[in-house]
Amino acid sequence: MVGHLLIYLDGEYLDYSEARLPVDERGLQFADGVYEVALIWDGQYIDLDRHLQRLERSAAAVELTLPFTRSEIRAVAEELLRREGPRQANLYLQVTRGVAPRDHRFPPNVVPPTVIAYLKDAHFDHDGVQNGVAAITEPDLRWLRCDIKSVALLPNVLARQHAAARGVREAILVRAGVGVTEGSATNLWLVRHGSIVTAPESNWILSGIVRGVVMELARSEMLPVAERFATQEELMQADEVFLTGTTTFVTPIVEIDGRPIGDGTPGPVTTRLQERYMERIARLASHVAD
Ligand code: PDD
Repeated sequence: MVGHLLIYLDGEYLDYSEARLPVDERGLQFADGVYEVALIWDGQYIDLDRHLQRLERSAAAVELTLPFTRSEIRAVAEELLRREGPRQANLYLQVTRGVAPRDHRFPPNVVPPTVIAYLKDAHFDHDGVQNGVAAITEPDLRWLRCDIKSVALLPNVLARQHAAARGVREAILVRAGVGVTEGSATNLWLVRHGSIVTAPESNWILSGIVRGVVMELARSEMLPVAERFATQEELMQADEVFLTGTTTFVTPIVEIDGRPIGDGTPGPVTTRLQERYMERIARLASHVAD
């Protein structure tokens, strides 16, 4: 697989160059839609059902009726994988409110949603996962429904671009009056005096699939997790900080705003959870029941 050559668009499997949408597609004009990014590891989907479940929740939250059942869209995902055959990749799946003359109001029900799915090369950042990455803090300027995986990502795009401009991997978002929420495309965790803290499931964060998995792994390792919003000060004084996400796995953060976290190397709790996470995806990919 090179790039994303095969595109599933509204029921057809097309070459990238053939996949076209009209300019009045509502995803383009209003960012009126929802999406998912799932992992393919060693040629297998990892936690696809959890992603599809979250897509159903996001769609319901924006009053969008999905034009497929879970098993129908799973079959599309499997067909893309069968035809393209990557060992490591990401599935990108997007549903927007269809094509209609520009009008903020929903189009009539006869307008079908637009469904796009394709596989994208996954970049596994060995160096970052092993040695940690740097981050900056940024004000969290997003709307009040960050739990919906909406394609409207402008504040996330700006925050991640600011991080890139500073030569670092991620922007950690800090919401005025709330505290540390998450990264621009990742969930955030910190460890202080042996206790793990991450933001609670709420309208202020996306409930990450990897977040849920890491929560389960921490519990089975007897590592207590407090679900609360940390302050920026706590973040800077943490012994360990790490990110989780489908494209990020479990990645240590070793520097924030130019200052080292802990001793500036990945800490033991992060490393332990990272090992458990990598073992789990390897086990799922090899078909051994979880
Ligand atoms: N991002 N928070 C935000 C704002 C995200 O966009 C993501 C995922 C996460 C982590 O969620 P998960 O563990 O389900 O991947 C948290 C995807 C990968 C993206 O937009 O590319």
